[in-house]
Amino acid sequence: MSDYTINPMTSHETGAEIIGLDLCRHVSDEVKKKINADFAKYHVLVFRGQKLTPPQFAAAGEIFGPLMQHHHKEVRIGHPDVYEVKQTEIEPGKYRIAGGSFHTDHSNHPCPPKATALHTVSLPSYGGDTQFVNMHDAYDDLPEATKQRIAGLKALHVFESKFSPRKLRPLSEDSAKELPPPTLHPLVRTHPENGRKFLYLNPVRIEAITGMEEKDALALVAELMAHATQKKYEYRHKWIMGDMVIWDDRSVMHQANADYDMKELRHLYRIMVEDNPKHWIAEGEKTLAHAAA
Ligand SMILES: [Fe+2]
Repeated sequence: MSDYTINPMTSHETGAEIIGLDLCRHVSDEVKKKINADFAKYHVLVFRGQKLTPPQFAAAGEIFGPLMQHHHKEVRIGHPDVYEVKQTEIEPGKYRIAGGSFHTDHSNHPCPPKATALHTVSLPSYGGDTQFVNMHDAYDDLPEATKQRIAGLKALHVFESKFSPRKLRPLSEDSAKELPPPTLHPLVRTHPENGRKFLYLNPVRIEAITGMEEKDALALVAELMAHATQKKYEYRHKWIMGDMVIWDDRSVMHQANADYDMKELRHLYRIMVEDNPKHWIAEGEKTLAHAAA
């Protein structure tokens, strides 16, 4: 059977490149199954040589599951589930880029996404890489004492934490109406597809840890982030036109880099794939509204 070639991008099963698959064409159920198995193993897949319109990109994302809406409804482009990412000049000479510090997407939702994907529209001549760090390996390597200390702890995720290392794009009035209430998620979760434990962190959105003093909670998040963002856990993606990159928002954290010429456009289409709410409920996670009931 001829389907595709897969090339691991690191020695630690974080990131793999897929060659020889045209996502504009029909993908059989058998190949979809194989892609999903590779996704659970490598956490970041890079499909080379694609040229997808927004509807074709949405269809490619559905190989991994139904798509999920973004917080910012106004950045939608060409399809109800496709959004766009590009730098924004917020005042003369000052730019905001999306995702400029390590995080996982939309973790303030009661059921955050399974995955996020990007597809190139326009790239700067240098820079703008996306970094990914493997949260399974980061968890596995923690000292036993730390594993015991964080077992059972839950973090409160809000849209933008007062401790966030960066300012987020403000929500429009319409988008703000659809924001979910703050949500509790365990610091340690079990991956529903590969069965491995992982650290679930996001300094942009974590505002508290239940049962901990604020300064202790901040110190713990900082300690875990310093550990998890070591180079040995990283796959650094250098974008090439035609790439579609999809990553598992449970297995990896990611960050974009603002190290390119802001006069050159870095423009990508973006989609998110829904997770199964059962995975979150099964682990005893609940929204504050439920906790208060
Ligand atoms: Fe992101």
